[in-house]
Amino acid sequence: MSGGPGAPMRVLVVFGTRPEAIKMCPLVLELKGRPAFDVSVCATGQHLQMLRQVLDCFGVVPDHDLAVMKAKQTLFDVTTGILTAFRPVLEASRPDLVLVHGDTTTTFTAALACFYLGIPVGHVEAGLRTHDLHAPFPEEFNRRAVGIVADLNFCPTELARRNLAGEGADPAGLVVTGNTAIDALEWTVRRDYSHPLLDWAADSRLVLLTAHRRESLGEPLRSMFRAIRRIVEESPDVKVLYPIHMNPAVRQAAAEILEGHPRIRIVEPLDVLDFHNFMARSTLILTDSGGIQEEAPSLGKPVLVMRDRTERPEGIAAGTLKLVGTSEETIHAEFRRLLDDPAEYARMARASNPYGDGRARFRIADALEAWGARRAEGAR
Ligand code: UD1
Ligand code: UDP
Repeated sequence: MSGGPGAPMRVLVVFGTRPEAIKMCPLVLELKGRPAFDVSVCATGQHLQMLRQVLDCFGVVPDHDLAVMKAKQTLFDVTTGILTAFRPVLEASRPDLVLVHGDTTTTFTAALACFYLGIPVGHVEAGLRTHDLHAPFPEEFNRRAVGIVADLNFCPTELARRNLAGEGADPAGLVVTGNTAIDALEWTVRRDYSHPLLDWAADSRLVLLTAHRRESLGEPLRSMFRAIRRIVEESPDVKVLYPIHMNPAVRQAAAEILEGHPRIRIVEPLDVLDFHNFMARSTLILTDSGGIQEEAPSLGKPVLVMRDRTERPEGIAAGTLKLVGTSEETIHAEFRRLLDDPAEYARMARASNPYGDGRARFRIADALEAWGARRAEGAR
């Protein structure tokens, strides 16, 4: 139960996948450092190994682990698994506020459980929209649904705030903070970094590849991989490094199309410290990831976004990101252009930070303190 007047505000932070953890750990550490908060962490375990990598990097130890992950899990598995396992945690701890992040099934399900129990929700990375309910799937639904129940929305950009205001969110609960993805770079990016895989790529232009979206599985993923293999075969000075997602469907497609070329290396998911430093030293990045679209502008690395829609148009406006869809011919043409046209490359490779200045965690913590003070005042 909640403490009396003057007691710290009891905040339960919930996350379950790699990107949520990368963007929540800086905030967890900030909140834990402030006497105004009594912080607990619940890992849903939607991811297992990929989550552990991040927790180890930031030194965050969850107080609760719902351990829901199964091989080849469906959306039904994840949703029902978390809803069932999270309920007793909430009922036993009755936090003053639960913080969720982004747009995963963990995010949606945790917010739904809070709604059922009348527990206030704060949404970090709120207000991103493609305005297409089916892309990305199911993330656009998840973030919109959380928008309905959240009491506090921490919007990374002004555009995200406008999206929520346009949907009728209470303006008093909207705070523009920047994205904690940029805060995380402070923990990871190092000047004096080295790695054997960077030595492997030292004589070449290093291209980083990631791809995992549910709506890309099947033919879109195969098209991406065919385009990339063609470029590598045409370009002796290009090496591609692919830290592959653990989803077996992704691994199977990659094994069929990308394996067996000496200038393509498929490796296990990299620790976030390694991945961020690899980004900082790459020539360019090909991805369908969300978080990488936020980090790359700050690092000044061009990104070809292999999706039809993005909820991160700020990076496109800044010039660092280009949306190239999933057709083999378009990806091939845009990839070729970026390699062959120095003016186009220079245009995209300018560092900018539309997603914040690395101080988002402080703004979120300040806003939470103010919210707690208002509530305490109201309760008197
Ligand atoms: C999930 C999120 C997606 C987010 C992505 C980040 C949903 C519906 N999807 O997608 O929004 O962009 O995480 O990576 O919430 N696996 C492991 N070990 C791990 C992680 C995954 O083996 O540590 C394998 C398992 O077989 C699992 C499968 O990957 O069943 C898919 O994981 P899941 O979380 O369902 O989907 P993601 O594609 O990772
Ligand atoms: N990332 C990582 N190791 C990798 C690949 C990516 O730590 O091998 C990081 C990346 O820097 C970004 C996040 O994982 O912060 C993106 O996660 P993912 O692409 O799985 O999810 P999304 O952002 O699309 O939801």
